[in-house]
Amino acid sequence: MTTSTPVGITPESQLGAIVAARPALARVFEGMGLDYCCGGKQSLAAACQRQGLDPQALVATLEAAAAAAGTGPADVDPARLTLTELADHIEQTHHLYLKSELPRLVEMAGRVARKHAWRDARLPEMQATVEALADEMLSHMRKEEEVLFPAIRQIEAGTAAGFHCGSLAHPIRQMEAEHESAGNATAHLRELTDGFVPDAEACNTHRALLAGLAEFAADLHRHVHKENHVLFPRALAQAERS
Ligand SMILES: [Fe+2]
Ligand SMILES: [Fe+2]
Repeated sequence: MTTSTPVGITPESQLGAIVAARPALARVFEGMGLDYCCGGKQSLAAACQRQGLDPQALVATLEAAAAAAGTGPADVDPARLTLTELADHIEQTHHLYLKSELPRLVEMAGRVARKHAWRDARLPEMQATVEALADEMLSHMRKEEEVLFPAIRQIEAGTAAGFHCGSLAHPIRQMEAEHESAGNATAHLRELTDGFVPDAEACNTHRALLAGLAEFAADLHRHVHKENHVLFPRALAQAERS
């Protein structure tokens, strides 16, 4: 469905809240390198000031994108899913994608660093950052899949004997800290690769690696947003009630 009515975005709106209400707008922020997941609590005005953007122009872009969003393929609206459905969705899309993509990125980063470090001294650090990030993300997802998500499903089903808000808050804080660390590593990769843009001499593997890293960064924002701003706060609220 297409709508042309304004969606009430102002320079004071928080990035995370905008994406929670309108998931399709994540792509606008991704295109501008604006962090709406770990940096989701910042206002549009603050984010624009940091990046040297005009907040009114960004509001207009977001309004236009919101109006057009109904016509294109959209990511799921996490607010419409139950906690169990959302945990399942995150595992079946973002986690599955990362488990197959991270080993490929690690392999390509190694190949590119070995062959081309002589002409770009940042490549060994890029490789080490990709390897550390892949290890971190794989271990992080294991903790979510083996501990936190099963607990959230139990809380929703009312079968979480002995689970209470406090015992859920600790693993959630830990996962949020790990998201921030992954976000920082990804921002560092963006710097080391000039925004994931290849130079004229980059070989095909190097180009494929940068395209893969750009896709990874965009997916990470959507993934972390669903956990930090939808799944975790709703699970905590549910645990408080039960
Ligand atoms: Fe996750
Ligand atoms: Fe996570």
